[in-house]
Amino acid sequence: MTMEPAGSDPEAPVTTVDAALAAARSAGIERQDAQRLLAAVVGQPRTWLLAHGEALLAPAQTRRWQDGLRRAQAGEPLAYLLGSHEFYGLGLRITSDVLVPRADTETLVDWALDCLRAWSASNPGSPRVLDLGTGSGAIALALKHSRPDATVWAVDASAEALAVARGNGQALGLTVQWCQGDWWSAVDSRPFDLVLSNPPYIAEGDPHLADLAHEPALALSSGPDGLDALRQIIAGARSRMCPGAWLLLEHGHDQAAAVADLLVEAGFQGVQSRADLAGHLRCTGGSACPAPSGPAPGGALPRVTRKRRRIAV
Ligand SMILES: C[S@@+](CC[C@H](N)C(=O)[O-])C[C@H]1O[C@@H](n2cnc3c(N)ncnc32)[C@H](O)[C@@H]1O
Repeated sequence: MTMEPAGSDPEAPVTTVDAALAAARSAGIERQDAQRLLAAVVGQPRTWLLAHGEALLAPAQTRRWQDGLRRAQAGEPLAYLLGSHEFYGLGLRITSDVLVPRADTETLVDWALDCLRAWSASNPGSPRVLDLGTGSGAIALALKHSRPDATVWAVDASAEALAVARGNGQALGLTVQWCQGDWWSAVDSRPFDLVLSNPPYIAEGDPHLADLAHEPALALSSGPDGLDALRQIIAGARSRMCPGAWLLLEHGHDQAAAVADLLVEAGFQGVQSRADLAGHLRCTGGSACPAPSGPAPGGALPRVTRKRRRIAV
């Protein structure tokens, strides 16, 4: 990269790479985040920063860096500053119209892929998969990437989020049927072989919402106990699922028992949970009715999944 010549803007302070990173440290910005932000500003890989501590930032770069630093200090997620984030090995464009995909959600994708493997062992053809509340399209695209044979639908109530998801699908060359609307009403009535969702599940009034103020409210909270969206999804699910189809739901670390109860009350079978890497029961699912044969894809209850796929950025 050719850095812009320093000194062309007399108003801009002269800053070196090392000084910029020291300023980020003083501002309390996590080291790796600061390096990724600065690397994006100067258009170089992070390793370049280590070998070029004395390099001067050009005035325009200094201004971009200071703006990024201010936004990071105000709590804006790094993904919004960079405009991108990696999920399940896929690079996604991310804007403030969508939730920043969380590593915890990879647990849900791992489980979904297990279900699809079990489905394919006893069914020919292409499984019909539905992602409810797709946001950036992270889950739907990760599944389509891992299982190109699946036909994937993805629903979101937010037109802005769907525009981001659709763009991600196009950029990755992955075909997903994007549908705007309220949960089940957004898709036609043909039944699905697998349904999964990471819906909003934080309780309204939860003090943690203050730390998430930069992300869309529609993606975060759902009713006084956080379970409203999960109740709606579970209530509408059974009539829209094939025999033996699994419904897999992400939820808060303390909501597994409540979600399991909702699934059992709605007639789901084999209800079980899986933990995220931190050991919190993060996803709960059940089968719409007994599968024709073979073991449940989740195994014993609860099951901890540790397998993760990571591609370094
Ligand atoms: C927690 S975010 C999950 C985003 C994405 N699936 C992920 O894991 O990163 C929940 C998503 O549900 C969407 N949503 C909220 N209420 C909805 C509704 N009634 N119908 C459809 N989607 C809804 C939000 O717009 C948001 O994109």
